Amino acid sequence: MHKNTYMPISSSISVESNLEIGGCDLAKLAAQYGTPLYIIDEETLRENCRSYLQAFAENYPSALAVYASKAMSVAGVLKIICEEGLGLDVASGGELYIALKSGADPQKIIFHGNNKSPRELAEALEAGVGLIVLDNPQELRNLEELAGRAQKKAAVLVRVTPGIEAHTHDFVKTGGFDSKFGMHIERVCDFLEEVKRCRNIDFRGLHAHIGSQILEVNPFAFTVEKLAELIEKIQKRNRLSVEILNLGGGLGISYTERETPPAVGDYVRAVCQELKYNLGKRKLPQPALIVEPGRSIVGRAGVTLYTVGAVKENLNIRKYLFVDGGMSDNPRPMLYGAKYSADIVSKITAKKSELVTVAGKFCESSDILLKDVHLPPAQAGDLLAVYGTGAYNYAMSSNYNQAPRPAMALVGAGQSKILVRRETYEDLLKNQEL
Ligand code: LLP
Repeated sequence: MHKNTYMPISSSISVESNLEIGGCDLAKLAAQYGTPLYIIDEETLRENCRSYLQAFAENYPSALAVYASKAMSVAGVLKIICEEGLGLDVASGGELYIALKSGADPQKIIFHGNNKSPRELAEALEAGVGLIVLDNPQELRNLEELAGRAQKKAAVLVRVTPGIEAHTHDFVKTGGFDSKFGMHIERVCDFLEEVKRCRNIDFRGLHAHIGSQILEVNPFAFTVEKLAELIEKIQKRNRLSVEILNLGGGLGISYTERETPPAVGDYVRAVCQELKYNLGKRKLPQPALIVEPGRSIVGRAGVTLYTVGAVKENLNIRKYLFVDGGMSDNPRPMLYGAKYSADIVSKITAKKSELVTVAGKFCESSDILLKDVHLPPAQAGDLLAVYGTGAYNYAMSSNYNQAPRPAMALVGAGQSKILVRRETYEDLLKNQEL
């Protein structure tokens, strides 16, 4: 079987000639757990974590890789990622709660957000998270007061908007000056004077995140250069040293054959070289480096399994495959025009001779998962596996049309186990009153 870069690394063909992941035949998983089903391949997940750890061990031993849990905040997945030695980035009180429940070391948790509520800041202080990333002056004032009340000193990074436009979808760009996130790079030094006046705040360094699904290293290298200039300015103007530099996440993955992102090792090497070069030429000490990958940790580990309910031909226009999920379990095609790749589980080596459009079951014309893709001829009852759905699928799922959210199963070494149980109709009513 030809294994594409968007397929989980353990993908193969079962003895029954079906697609198999983690040694589990997908037709059997569908029979056991039902569809739609999110499947997570443990081997790909661990391998992705290790590729960051190994690249840092070789290039920048003081660096810490921190998984951006917004990509998929599932306790069983976080537990594996923490076992591998990564920290966790959380962007809300809810993500913090799940991170703590998964057994994460609070010191390796980084708390983010452009509008953290006082309650969330208090929860972060109470949990003893390693770093809080400050977004704006109001948040500084809130945190100073809350830390004082809690008799704690809050270790912070300041989020910087470096003014970098990476080539990605407008909705996931965050580095430009018009971004709602962070502080304009030109204003950071003035802000740091305010930070210095706060007795309960401990300034540790800078953070920047320029966007997501970035398929080249240049924007990251350019960010490093800008931040190195800023570190020098901060040292001169504020007399503060930057001990930690956090470059955020953003490395892209392949969803189809069209995307060819740099390998994790190449991205890490480029960023580390750029950092060493830019600091070396300014004779500045090297800060501890942090990166926050989300998609490149979980994206490829995830596959969504659907059952085809009907095949419908709109004469001379298009052939639709209708599946039993759609925009509620994967809103990305609708939100960003995101592209995916898929296979029919029982026809994995068959010729992809038909041009079809895979649509979901929701009451929106734009509920299309894959538009104009080639698949082998399919019929009702076939299982469809959509690849690369580990990141921002379950995380952004909804109950639209009162669809219970799918279950999630972890697969590896021929075993499977449920990490998230399928929602029931009762779950839909759980918070409602008559
Ligand atoms: N760090 C920060 C501060 C972030 O805001 C993000 C993502 C990450 C790290 C992780 O970025 P990644 O490595 O996953 O690219 N819903 C969109 C993606 C939104 C990304 C938000 N921030 C999508 O489905 O494409």
